[in-house]
Amino acid sequence: MRVLITGTEGQVDTSVKALGEQLGIEVIRIGLPDIDLSRPDSLEAPVRAASPDVIISSAAYTAVDKAESEPDLARRINGDAPGELARIAASLNVPLLHLSTDYVFPGDKDGVYDEADTPEPASVYGATKLAGERQIAANTDNFVILRTAWVYSPYGNNFVKTMLRLGKTRDEINVVADQHGCPTYAPEIARALLTVAQKIAADPDPKLRGIFHLTGTGETTWADFAETIFLESVKRGGKAVKVNPIATSDYPTPAKRPANSRLSGAKLHSIYGLQLDPWPVSLSYCMDALAAT
Ligand SMILES: NC(=O)c1ccc[n+]([C@@H]2O[C@H](COP(=O)([O-])OP(=O)(O)OC[C@H]3O[C@@H](n4cnc5c(N)ncnc54)[C@H](OP(=O)(O)O)[C@@H]3O)[C@@H](O)[C@H]2O)c1
Repeated sequence: MRVLITGTEGQVDTSVKALGEQLGIEVIRIGLPDIDLSRPDSLEAPVRAASPDVIISSAAYTAVDKAESEPDLARRINGDAPGELARIAASLNVPLLHLSTDYVFPGDKDGVYDEADTPEPASVYGATKLAGERQIAANTDNFVILRTAWVYSPYGNNFVKTMLRLGKTRDEINVVADQHGCPTYAPEIARALLTVAQKIAADPDPKLRGIFHLTGTGETTWADFAETIFLESVKRGGKAVKVNPIATSDYPTPAKRPANSRLSGAKLHSIYGLQLDPWPVSLSYCMDALAAT
């Protein structure tokens, strides 16, 4: 199977490439400057030339706060480009897998979000990712959208690496304690993506298609996540850092974050048999990988 994925330096595309090498699956990454998602017309020729069996749309405008001041650019990259990829996938008669986000929800639900809940984004980033979901559904039936959240890995930029970097120069860090969600390890997203890709490429069953939620198992807050990161770091010889829990209102940001980012993985589990590891287990794998670099 030949998999084409957008992105060349991101957390998820790097993880998919690494897992593909382990599993003997050919993974082709495409990104800047060969394609530019802000110019969706740059996609067709390179995608066709790669002749993929499955297309994965991973690259995105992920600067959540900056998106508030660049809504048009974010919409072209997160909305129009996935729509164009879906059109190309349909014309090639291949499935499209796409990554979306918990930010499509407002975060005010009392309980976990499932796929039947109505999206209502509270940020430009969330609105543009929802536009991408809708443009995909308008252009092909042969798609899987995986909404994930709080992604971290040894690659790129993420909360784990930021905490460890800040911890080098500080003894205490203030971290928001009233946003709830589940950290998701990019190499596990990669495992789910390649499992889904193999099934969907071989089976036309409509039940395998549509929107699914995919996060690590369990839940936490950013402050508790940070504390666990530093405890794991100490176990590996790192410095102890105190985490002071603060409220979202004490840490104002341009984009509004959902207070509740918890996504139910029940649908993915029942249809694909996929369930990610408990988040503390995955975090320990990431800490091992970071310690080895
Ligand atoms: N990170 C999270 O916490 C999170 C949470 C929920 C959902 N998601 C979704 O999961 C997916 C993967 O996230 P990630 O964390 O792997 O993202 P990431 O590490 O931020 O990587 C994003 C990738 O997109 C590329 N990109 C950005 N603008 C581009 C453009 N105009 N043309 C071509 N490529 C462009 C970047 O290339 P450069 O490095 O060259 O700029 C980078 O390779 C995204 O769709 C994201 O919306 C992420």
